Amino acid sequence: MIIAVDGPSGSGKSSTARGVATKLGLRYLDTGAMYRAVTWSALEHGLDLDDTAAVAARACALVLSVSTDPQRAQFAADGTDVTEAIRDPRISASVSKIATNLDVRKELIRRQREIIEQSQPTGGAVVEGRDIATVVAPQAELKVLLTADQDARMARRKAELADAVTAEQLRDQIVRRDADDATVSQFLVASDGAVEIDSTHLSLEEVVDVICRLAKEAEAAP
Ligand code: DC
Repeated sequence: MIIAVDGPSGSGKSSTARGVATKLGLRYLDTGAMYRAVTWSALEHGLDLDDTAAVAARACALVLSVSTDPQRAQFAADGTDVTEAIRDPRISASVSKIATNLDVRKELIRRQREIIEQSQPTGGAVVEGRDIATVVAPQAELKVLLTADQDARMARRKAELADAVTAEQLRDQIVRRDADDATVSQFLVASDGAVEIDSTHLSLEEVVDVICRLAKEAEAAP
């Protein structure tokens, strides 16, 4: 079973997708982390992020190792563990530039589909991102579009980042990135058959439970 969980920054999709994968015994793929890892690598190599050809070549050359264990998400880029580094505000500030590079998208979507394929023998995966239901895995048995209002998303991101964030950085992480991300077509579009869940007034456990219930129904459907 493939479960697609799409949603904007701060919608709670990472915790939700991890929770669902853990509960249902599925693999977990954080596609946003892959865009972050390419950003990290491009900056490490001192590339001009506006040089789309050089950045795309870097994405294709990058040896990216992705752990799909929902309890222990881990990413290595060319042999360096970047699990922590890709969450740095420096990466968050630049990642939209990488995610709007269409050749980078093509390469990462190809790799995401491979990882999804590899999860099939062990039961499948919960895949989180922005374009999973529309582009990466339109065949997903369950497609969830997770939303939350902007205030709730900013509050959640603030709690995640603890004190290490200024109001300006927070706004940058939610409001500006939403606007930048929205420049990619087929982003956060409710695909056919997608279930929209507004998590503004729901706890993490409630959202996880709703999705697990929908997954059981989808599995039982003829
Ligand atoms: O979910 P996140 O904040 O880690 O995502 C990082 C960036 O990658 C964000 O700018 C959106 C982009 N992204 C994307 O373009 N496609 C995806 N499937 C997932 C994330």
